[in-house]
Amino acid sequence: MRVETLSVFPQMFEAPMSLSIIGRARKAGILDFIAHDLRDWTHDNHNTTDDEPYGGGAGQLMKVEPVFEALDDLLAQEPARVVFFTPVGVPFSQGLAAELAREQRLIMVCGRYEGFDERVYTRADLCVSLGDYILTGGELAAMVVTDAVCRLLPGALGDAQSPLDESFSTGLLEYPQYTRPATYRGLEVPDVLLSGNHRMIAEWRRKQSIIRTAQIRPDLLEQAELSEREWELVHSCLEGEK
Ligand SMILES: C[S@@+](CC[C@H](N)C(=O)[O-])C[C@H]1O[C@@H](n2cnc3c(N)ncnc32)[C@H](O)[C@@H]1O
Repeated sequence: MRVETLSVFPQMFEAPMSLSIIGRARKAGILDFIAHDLRDWTHDNHNTTDDEPYGGGAGQLMKVEPVFEALDDLLAQEPARVVFFTPVGVPFSQGLAAELAREQRLIMVCGRYEGFDERVYTRADLCVSLGDYILTGGELAAMVVTDAVCRLLPGALGDAQSPLDESFSTGLLEYPQYTRPATYRGLEVPDVLLSGNHRMIAEWRRKQSIIRTAQIRPDLLEQAELSEREWELVHSCLEGEK
């Protein structure tokens, strides 16, 4: 898959897109990543990408022309799904990461200042929000989405099982995990994990996932597939909270 970003700070992507899993995926040819500089599509001496909002108000807006011209050029090469980052977008989720991981090419457009001239969104296939807070720019959002998408690409993770086990992939939060030593400063690893009994370990993990999700993110349970007994466990957790 190829991910391309369009922003006024392409240099922000250097380290996050070169290290660890993403760096290895790029070296292995699993992910191709290009950070474009939006200023390459400006025509004045100052490479201006922002202007004042019509009607007044605080701050500057991203100009419409550089975004349109950049997308004209990039999309003339081959088709891509164009994603804009904005707090007004659909909330990013593991499900959306999985959907985007199936694309051949993504172009992610990152805002700055007070956001974009509204007309740029006529070029959007998708508008994505990272959450109900305001970042200074879309670059961090693009890094987050690229990271979440990259680890779902076949071959990107060493252990192909990991994305299936993680929080949200089953509609539940992940169970608690431990590594050595078995006792640290009086804090014990649960006995069941030391038992070597895989069936009991799997049952314990599933139960812990359900308890945690009921306690911390009950909203997620709407999507989870639970047995009747597991729903009883959820209800007893929620009753215990009252
Ligand atoms: C300071 S923000 C603009 C916020 C805008 N004035 C508003 O209230 O919706 C500048 C840019 O950062 C990015 N951004 C900020 N918060 C974001 C979020 N929660 N999700 C996705 N992108 C975000 C967007 O690309 C946005 O255009």
